[in-house]
Amino acid sequence: MIFESHAHYDDTAFDTDRQELLNQCQAQGIETIVNVSASLNSVKSTLALAEEYPFLYAAVGIHPDEVGELDEAAFTWLREQCRHPKAVAVGEIGLDYYWDKEKHELQKYWFQRQMELAKELKLPIIVHSRDAAADTLEAVRTAHSPKLRGVIHCFSYGPELAREYLDMGYYIGIGGVVTFKNAKKLKEVVKIVPMERILLETDCPYLAPEPNRGKRNSSLNLPYVAEAIGQLKGIDTEEVIRITNENAKALYFGNKEKLYG
Ligand code: NI
Repeated sequence: MIFESHAHYDDTAFDTDRQELLNQCQAQGIETIVNVSASLNSVKSTLALAEEYPFLYAAVGIHPDEVGELDEAAFTWLREQCRHPKAVAVGEIGLDYYWDKEKHELQKYWFQRQMELAKELKLPIIVHSRDAAADTLEAVRTAHSPKLRGVIHCFSYGPELAREYLDMGYYIGIGGVVTFKNAKKLKEVVKIVPMERILLETDCPYLAPEPNRGKRNSSLNLPYVAEAIGQLKGIDTEEVIRITNENAKALYFGNKEKLYG
């Protein structure tokens, strides 16, 4: 049974067949889905999906491209949403200097505030980082504490940086890119990350793996990602699916008292 650790089923790309597709996911071995929000609106739509589908859980947070929406009143509202019984993470949060939609200082400020929120609420974080390697590492180090856990989603840097996050206890999210022929750096990363620290993810509707590259992505494509990881690790696809499922459950559903004291 597959644990999908990062999806965006509230995206308009799924407006025509969302219900059918989510039912199909459940019928085809997708045991659990974490739907990840990015804006204030998607926090609402993500929580609505979590209320509708028992196997779908919510990550509540504001993406670096959208932090212009935040002020103290919105942040207070966000904190309340994080207390929803099906909210299992704060995310996705981080830094994005590729799209560069918001000023770096503003991105860093709300990234840090949302990491502090995660610590306060004993929730793991889902980190988005694009073209912002050094600043993301610095921010995560600043917030680092045994009481802060999380995943670096859609990991796009090299093995050295992966080691830095592993040393701080983070998981590494691996998605469709690992199946691309030219993804040499990511394949190197997968080789050095222990199986116990890998999460399967799609980031759907984006980043569909081969052989469906370029099409709309969904959790139904995760076996291709698991297969590619298995080839790099020299283990069966089924083993990858089993271990990553356990990893995600430990991160998102672990006993909070035990984990955070
Ligand atoms: Ni995402």
